[in-house]
Amino acid sequence: MTQPNIFITRIIPDPGLLLVKEHYFPDTWPHDPPPTREQLIERSRGVDGLLCLLTERVDAQLMDSIGPQLKVISSMSVGVDHIDVAAATARGIPVGNTPGVLTDATADQAFALMLSAARRITEAERFLRAGKWVTWSPSLLLGADFAGATLGILGFGRIGQAVAKRARGFDMRVLYHSPNAQPMYDAQSTDLDTLLRESDFVSIHVPLNPKTRHLVNAEFLSKMKSNAVLVNTSRGGVLDQTALYDTLKSNRIFAAALDVTDPEPLPMDCPLLELENCLIVPHLGSASKKTRDMMSLLAAQNLVAGLKGERLPNCVNPEVYDRTQTSPGV
Ligand code: DGY
Repeated sequence: MTQPNIFITRIIPDPGLLLVKEHYFPDTWPHDPPPTREQLIERSRGVDGLLCLLTERVDAQLMDSIGPQLKVISSMSVGVDHIDVAAATARGIPVGNTPGVLTDATADQAFALMLSAARRITEAERFLRAGKWVTWSPSLLLGADFAGATLGILGFGRIGQAVAKRARGFDMRVLYHSPNAQPMYDAQSTDLDTLLRESDFVSIHVPLNPKTRHLVNAEFLSKMKSNAVLVNTSRGGVLDQTALYDTLKSNRIFAAALDVTDPEPLPMDCPLLELENCLIVPHLGSASKKTRDMMSLLAAQNLVAGLKGERLPNCVNPEVYDRTQTSPGV
C-alpha cells in the first residue's frame, strides 16, 4: 500500500509529531515563521492530509490546488475561522480542531489580562523601569477593584464558563450573554445592552464569523461603563480596533487588554500601541506547555483518523459523514 502524503505546516510539539511519525513520514515545515501563501500552495500540492495552524488560510483555492485526494484537514487550534469549513464540507473533507484542552489555559489568560489591565501592571512596570518611581504615593497608578464588581461574559461556551468559574473566587457578580447557553457558576443570563450597562469588566469569548466580525464596535463600546475594562482573548476580528483606539484615547472606558489582534502580528505602527491604557500580548491564550502538547496530540489524532478513513475524534463539520459516500474526501 502506498504511504499517504502529509504536510504539517510547522514543527508542532512532540506528542503530536511523534504520533504522526509512528504511522507516516510527514513533510514538516521546519521554520518559524510559517510558510508564505505561495510556499503553502507549493508544499501541500498532492497531499492526502494537511495539519495546519491558525496562521494558515485554508480556503477553497488551497483545497483545489492540493487536489481531490485530500482526505483530512486538521488544525492545531480550537478556532477554525482560518479554514473555509463550508468549502471543505462541499468537497467531503472532514475538518478537525482541538476543543477542551485549551479551555483552562485561555480562561487563565483572560483573567491574567483582566487583572493586569485593571491593576495597570504593565504600565506600572514601564513606569518603574523608566526610573519614575520617586516615592510611595496615595494616588500612584490607582486601578480597579474586583471584589463586588460585575463581570460580563460575551459568549458562554467552554472558555466563557471557565472564566465565570474563576470569577467566583474573586467575589464577582457574573452576567453573560450567549444564545442557548445554560446558566452555571452563579452567572446570570442577560441581554447585551444590560450586560454592557452593568459590567465593570467585559470579557469576549465568541468565535469569529460573519456575524461577530466587529461586534465590538463604536456603538458597543459607547454602551460600556466609563470605569470598565475590556478583555479580548477570542479573535482580533471581533473588535473594531479603530473604534477601540478612539474610545481608549478619550478615556471613555478605563482600559483594554488584548490577547488577539487584527492583523496578527500587529504592525508596530498600530496606534493602539501608543496608549498606556491598552495592554496587548501576542496571541498567547493557549500558551502553556501542557496545553500545547495536548493540542498537538488532538490535532495528530484527527489527522491519523482522517487518513485511515475513520471518523475524526473532534470534527467541526460532522455533516460530511451524513453523506452517502463511505469515506469522506475520497
Ligand atoms: C485556538 O486554538 O483557536 C487558540 O486561539 C490558540 O491559542
